[in-house]
Amino acid sequence: MNLLRPLRIGAFTAPNNLLLAPMAGITDTPFRILCLKGGAGIVCAEMVSAHALHYGNPKSGRMLQVNKKEHPVSMQIFGADEETIAQAAKSAQDQGADIVDINAGCPVKKINKAGAGCVLMKDEAKLGRLIEAAVKSVSIPVTLKTRIALNHRERLALRMAKLAESAGASAITLHARAAVDVHTGAPDIEAVAEAVQGVKIPVIGNGGITNAQTAQQFLKTGCAGVMIGRAAVGNPFIFQSIQDEMAGLPPVVLTPQKRMEIYLALIRENVAYYGEKIGVNRSRKTAGYWINNFPNAAEVRGQFVRLAKVSDIEKLFHTVF
Ligand SMILES: Cc1cc2nc3c(=O)[nH]c(=O)nc-3n(C[C@H](O)[C@H](O)[C@H](O)COP(=O)(O)O)c2cc1C
Repeated sequence: MNLLRPLRIGAFTAPNNLLLAPMAGITDTPFRILCLKGGAGIVCAEMVSAHALHYGNPKSGRMLQVNKKEHPVSMQIFGADEETIAQAAKSAQDQGADIVDINAGCPVKKINKAGAGCVLMKDEAKLGRLIEAAVKSVSIPVTLKTRIALNHRERLALRMAKLAESAGASAITLHARAAVDVHTGAPDIEAVAEAVQGVKIPVIGNGGITNAQTAQQFLKTGCAGVMIGRAAVGNPFIFQSIQDEMAGLPPVVLTPQKRMEIYLALIRENVAYYGEKIGVNRSRKTAGYWINNFPNAAEVRGQFVRLAKVSDIEKLFHTVF
């Protein structure tokens, strides 16, 4: 059975239920536009600090900007107090976001020390108040992204889903790994299935999805959609491949040369968006994902990370192919 379908989140309907996961340092505007071209139903932006927005941090302000080519887009915010979360949600809406998502799954120490991210799973009352504050401040749907657990001793997926629903969230994304596991290990799909059974809001499953089979494992539990993170980084057309495979069509397979062309186009977009220095720097962060199946990958990567100009990168890539 083909479990791909439009995804309804509150009053908003996305064309399909394959979502690009929010990834700090990666899912910026140029990459989000690329993933929409690659078939994503919704693209999620890197998390933005509600606190930094409140204090007028220009970098955070820019991260909230929405390009007209990147709809449907979900803007993710993180924070620890109701007032700044409400303000940030409103700013995301004013910038043109289709959905605003609250992060309660990030295990990064600096963020947890400030009372945000996955530590919110320990304080359900506070998390509920943050969601309610965001919901009150906007007319677009508010969603929650969290984990199935903090550690291996507990399962919080169902509790989190019920909490999100009662606080007024329109959907919940569950990363099917405990916070202590950060991004490694097999996803616990059963924990996500428990949450699906217990709430009426859409549950989006995430963690370890790399192809149609792994997407299908989540969708079979009744998940309304699936969210793909790292598997999309060097392969933004994964969304189209999964759709094709589920429809019984041969999936798009990109040759290393085609991937090089897509990467080069992304680097050019990054440079147009950020300027050459920052654009090339940002492109470098994901080089490992893109260059891994180029001929002489290790050597090419070694040379690539030393280049600062797009023209030199073009020359290198064209020599390789
Ligand atoms: C580099 C990186 C940055 C991430 N940044 C965020 C973030 O800003 N917000 C968030 O909710 N999750 C973030 N995540 C987690 C992803 O959204 C996703 O939950 C995780 O990678 C599991 O999905 P995957 O196995 O498909 O990669 C990040 C993950 C990675 C690898």
